[in-house]
Amino acid sequence: MSDEVRMIPAHELATRRPGARGADPTAGAQGSGEAGGQGHPPPAAAPRRSLDPAEVRVATRLAGIALPNPITSASGCFASGVEIDRFHDIADLGAVVVKSITLEPRDGLPTPRMAETPSGMLNAIGLQNPGVEAWIANDLPWLRERGARVIASVAGRSVEDFRLVARALTRAGGDTIVALEVNLSCPNVEDRGLVFACSAPDSAEVVRAVSREARVPVLAKLTSDVTDIVAIARAVVAAGADGLTLINTLLGMAIDPDTGRPELANTYGGLSGPAIRPVAVRNVHQVHSALPDVPILGCGGARTVTDVVQFLRAGASAVAVGTATFVDPFITARLVTQLRTWCAERGIADVSELIGATQRR
Ligand SMILES: Cc1cc2nc3c(=O)[nH]c(=O)nc-3n(C[C@H](O)[C@H](O)[C@H](O)COP(=O)(O)O)c2cc1C
Repeated sequence: MSDEVRMIPAHELATRRPGARGADPTAGAQGSGEAGGQGHPPPAAAPRRSLDPAEVRVATRLAGIALPNPITSASGCFASGVEIDRFHDIADLGAVVVKSITLEPRDGLPTPRMAETPSGMLNAIGLQNPGVEAWIANDLPWLRERGARVIASVAGRSVEDFRLVARALTRAGGDTIVALEVNLSCPNVEDRGLVFACSAPDSAEVVRAVSREARVPVLAKLTSDVTDIVAIARAVVAAGADGLTLINTLLGMAIDPDTGRPELANTYGGLSGPAIRPVAVRNVHQVHSALPDVPILGCGGARTVTDVVQFLRAGASAVAVGTATFVDPFITARLVTQLRTWCAERGIADVSELIGATQRR
């Protein structure tokens, strides 16, 4: 992943900040008639006493699951955690979201399957995984032995595929699998290859089938590549989802300028990394505003502690970190420590104070 591209000159940014010279004095007030809307700064909150980082409570709840902290891996960027466990104890994470699991083993798509882009990357891996039977036989016992809380990602080509994977994982999961995440960004062979997540009825049907099998909370993972993500969110919640993961990658393309060929063998791929973070934060904020009681696992471009705070303030109860792990395998563990320090410096005793705080302003 290349460095973040600064597309707005610094002097421009300064004039856009609320309160800065040249900024629109009504920005942010949205005609509410509050003092800020008339050009007066809001009354300053009393400064809080800073805390010892050890005093900060970072535990959170996601769809009823107790997590020791709000940082998880993102599906597909961590496999089952074996590689990352060499760098830090994966049981220290809030949860480990594993690579999506299908009914049959899959070799994935032809190479090249990854391409670097400004502030991110494209991938078209094609759900390479050993299949649910082998995953249960080999990966699950290792995760259990490590003491990890596992969110198992379920994928399929048909509603029945999803149901059977969910059933197998439910039977084998014991206390180790704490939730199922439904990867709805899969083409539906029964509906012209249309991605489930782009259709409210198709998404709902999958979630209904998985929820009937599951004995743990079900998170539906949505895409932002839709006209109205809130409508899809409502449909999956009505179908039984206990929470949402927002968002999966955004569909993108890169072309080699000399050859004119697409850089990915699959032509199109999923864009991830810091480039998509503002989109992901917007989706979390939109959905949390419409459905404030639905728990959200925020995902998309999180790399720094302030990214994590943005997701929490927008309404996420926990934050999944994916692409950043490829750059820094210690990142997830470090974010937990940095979140404590960030809160302690601001006198925030409990991370839960941040969740949805932007809507409560
Ligand atoms: C190489 C790669 C593989 C991925 N595989 C999966 C997957 O198997 N299932 C899934 O739901 N999401 C998958 N994703 C999407 C991520 O879980 C995540 O939603 C997305 O990358 C945005 O987060 P990030 O910017 O922190 O990476 C994959 C992403 C990458 C980069």
